[in-house]
Amino acid sequence: MALQVSGASFSLFRNSKTSRRIRAVASEDIATLQTGGEEKVTLGGSDLKVTKLGIGAWSWGDTSYWNNFEWDDRKLKAAKTAFDASVDSGITFFDTAEVYGSRFSFGAINSETLLGRFIKERKEKDPAVGVAVATKFAALPWRLGRESVIAALKDSLSRLNLSSVELYQLHWPGIWGNEGWYIDGLADAVEQGLVKAVGVSNYSEKRLRDAYKQLKSRGIPLASNQVNYSLIYRIPEENGVKATCDELGITLIAYSPIAQGALSGKYTPENPPTGPRGRIYTPEFLTKLQPLVNRIKEIGQNYNKTPTQVVLNWLVSQENVVPIPGAKNAEQAKEFSGALGWRLTDEEITELRSLASETKPVVGFPVEKL
Ligand SMILES: NC(=O)c1ccc[n+]([C@@H]2O[C@H](COP(=O)([O-])OP(=O)(O)OC[C@H]3O[C@@H](n4cnc5c(N)ncnc54)[C@H](OP(=O)(O)O)[C@@H]3O)[C@@H](O)[C@H]2O)c1
Repeated sequence: MALQVSGASFSLFRNSKTSRRIRAVASEDIATLQTGGEEKVTLGGSDLKVTKLGIGAWSWGDTSYWNNFEWDDRKLKAAKTAFDASVDSGITFFDTAEVYGSRFSFGAINSETLLGRFIKERKEKDPAVGVAVATKFAALPWRLGRESVIAALKDSLSRLNLSSVELYQLHWPGIWGNEGWYIDGLADAVEQGLVKAVGVSNYSEKRLRDAYKQLKSRGIPLASNQVNYSLIYRIPEENGVKATCDELGITLIAYSPIAQGALSGKYTPENPPTGPRGRIYTPEFLTKLQPLVNRIKEIGQNYNKTPTQVVLNWLVSQENVVPIPGAKNAEQAKEFSGALGWRLTDEEITELRSLASETKPVVGFPVEKL
């Protein structure tokens, strides 16, 4: 169980036999499957198929970052309509985490609990509905041993009211030397039938290669790496993470894909977001962003698409990328489905990237550099 990727083991990925296998996995991964009008993709080398775009559930029940520090019945109803509208429009992949809607923040409700409730209520009306749930393990320093992963997963399953989930991810790496245990814990979860596939989140290239290798030694594919990736946060293109995902056949799940609303065009220097987002997407930042947002709008008009649909299409069009935008209500969820079923041209993709490179990215989650 070597965690270090030495020059020798690095070259393992380069030998001809392995590269043939990797190419085979990668081409299989980007193959899409048409089922009843929904387009699905296979996550990495796993058997798990999910919709080409998922829905992030971080804001459901959260009072630490979202919702102006308050959660109420009106927001609860809106979140439920977001869930139902997603399913109605064929988007059935949902991402949550044990820490979303943390019990340590005032008035919060755990996002897993809400998602579990929405699934149960939907299934009562529509028993045939199939939903793929992704949740995450919080790699906290006091969580020791591989069994800590199984214990946390069982707690998540209990909140979700499910006997298994489709994807279980390490929310961030075990930066206190506990990484090896956690990866083994993920493999144990697959072997115990508690999850269909496993992934990581906020992993650097090196950590990704190590995790891939350790899981491979247990015969289990690393399905995904969930990282911050949007038109204005293209760090995964620069730090080797996107290229490594493509090389190893690991799906890149893109979080904050509309830059927390900043790329939707609704926030302007005169109307910046409130709350913690206002400290990131400041009037100065939004002023610099205007040329890009204006071009996104123009391109969208040619396709009869909104800016949100254009920026999500920019991610989906790159293949091997599954964005998971957060929806607070039915309107937002419905809008996301319009990001699928069409494609920006390669010239438009390149032009938008080049225009976006004139804006300095906002600060990301520092752990992705560790
Ligand atoms: N692994 C990690 O460390 C990590 C970190 C962050 C996020 N995530 C995951 O990624 C998901 C998405 O990321 P995110 O929520 O940070 O950012 P995001 O998806 O880029 O932005 C979501 C926010 O944008 C606004 N919005 C949504 N749809 C819109 C539309 N159609 N038009 C205009 N505004 C719209 C909403 O806020 P307003 O309506 O209030 O503007 C919404 O809450 C999360 O839910 C979570 O599952 C994971």
